[in-house]
Amino acid sequence: MIWKQRLARSLHLSRSKPESRYMQLATYCEVNGVQNRTVVFRGFNHSGTQLYFVSEKDCDKVRSLYCHPQAEIAWYFAKTREQFRLAVDCSIIGEDALAEEANCRQRVWDRLSASARNSFRPNHDEIPANFIVSICTIKQVDYLHLGQIHERYLYQPSTSWKEQQIPV
Ligand SMILES: Cc1cc2nc3c(=O)[nH]c(=O)nc-3n(C[C@H](O)[C@H](O)[C@H](O)COP(=O)(O)O)c2cc1C
Repeated sequence: MIWKQRLARSLHLSRSKPESRYMQLATYCEVNGVQNRTVVFRGFNHSGTQLYFVSEKDCDKVRSLYCHPQAEIAWYFAKTREQFRLAVDCSIIGEDALAEEANCRQRVWDRLSASARNSFRPNHDEIPANFIVSICTIKQVDYLHLGQIHERYLYQPSTSWKEQQIPV
């Protein structure tokens, strides 16, 4: 099964658990070193090759991603005992975004709950200047299933996302 189907299935089976949308995002830059933190998954693009998270502009993750767009997301689904490790390239989309990226920022903003929006101190006419959407392009997926048998697969776009089993 391709990783997108596995991830869609995991999200579906865990949909009653808000914590199933919490991902761990690891970044690196010279000033901050390696840092890891929790962010909320905010959806995929149409083809499922990119995913989104949101943040304030003035924070370490944004500063690090400006310097080093490469990051890793670790996402664990307790109910199905599955881990997805996603190697990603992150683009930072802020108030200066144009065209398609500006539309993407608007769509993600429109889908936020009122309480999530309020954390950005909005006025009611426009998206707050400090609202950032990170578009994470997925470059590789390392999937681990801790079932009765432990299974691990690697997926890379260079192989048309064909799965490659890794011994565990
Ligand atoms: C459950 C949970 C969800 C969080 N979701 C987000 C999020 O979606 N975006 C975000 O910027 N920070 C989120 N945070 C806060 C970050 O983990 C982090 O503490 C904060 O953004 C500062 O990170 P930085 O200084 O490394 O940028 C969340 C924290 C928790 C505990």
